[in-house]
Amino acid sequence: TKPVNVAELRRMRAAGEKIACLTCYDASFAMLEDRAGVDLILVGDSLGMVIQGGTTTTPVTVADIAYHSRCVAPHLQRAFLVADLPFLSYATLERALDASQRLMQEGGAKMVKLEGGREQASIVEYLAVRGVPVCAHLGLQPQFVHKLGAFKVQGRDDLAAEAMLHDAKVLADAGADLLVLECIPSSLGQRITEISSVPVIGIGAGPHTDGQILVLQDILNISPMVTVGHTPRFVKNYMQGAADIESAIRNYVDEVKSGAYPAPEHGFADAAPAPKALKS
Ligand code: KIV
Ligand code: NA
Repeated sequence: TKPVNVAELRRMRAAGEKIACLTCYDASFAMLEDRAGVDLILVGDSLGMVIQGGTTTTPVTVADIAYHSRCVAPHLQRAFLVADLPFLSYATLERALDASQRLMQEGGAKMVKLEGGREQASIVEYLAVRGVPVCAHLGLQPQFVHKLGAFKVQGRDDLAAEAMLHDAKVLADAGADLLVLECIPSSLGQRITEISSVPVIGIGAGPHTDGQILVLQDILNISPMVTVGHTPRFVKNYMQGAADIESAIRNYVDEVKSGAYPAPEHGFADAAPAPKALKS
């Protein structure tokens, strides 16, 4: 088996082969996911929630991501490993470089991911010209939760949508090799994917992106959020009807590949549902 790399991700986009991505934080699941045909594995700062049990990603450190990457990396034969740059670890060029060095050299990651739009272009370029592949993350940016006040759908008005299209272009021009779009209307996910020069992976961004990513614990129906009944609309429980965890992961990969996931009900419409009108 040939390991997936940046060139292979570009080939898949060009060939219209959907890219199946999933988060992972340890060796046991790394082996299962790799064997199940997951193309890209992310050690996400979502580990702040699903591993550490917090309510946001902001307490996660570079050491945390490096540790979990180190647990995952040695067990991948084919999947491409991406690691999240956590909160404030890319606040300056130097910090971004140091953090990326740790995630790649200690963690074994092949790419780092950071949140934000055109304001991150100089950081993306600084890393990219030094051989650090970068994935940019647009739409809902969980590291901004304390400024946003809540996790909600992004890019719903025309101004925000146009800004995001521009961000996608600027970040790819700065050297980003991959784009993640989180929680945006399906129509905007389609437009960004069409204009993008690099592969686009969606989570709650509709069916038109080049690939999909979900949090492992969400598809296994064991994440803290799911357990307390706050299932995001884009999550699908793949344990339903599955004989075991490996077949659940295989079903997810198959459904991403075939386009069966995401279904229309997993996506967001252009406008927020109108508030219930008061009877006159
Ligand atoms: O941290 C994470 O798991 C992520 C994905 C949801 C894209 O950033
Ligand atoms: Na993340």
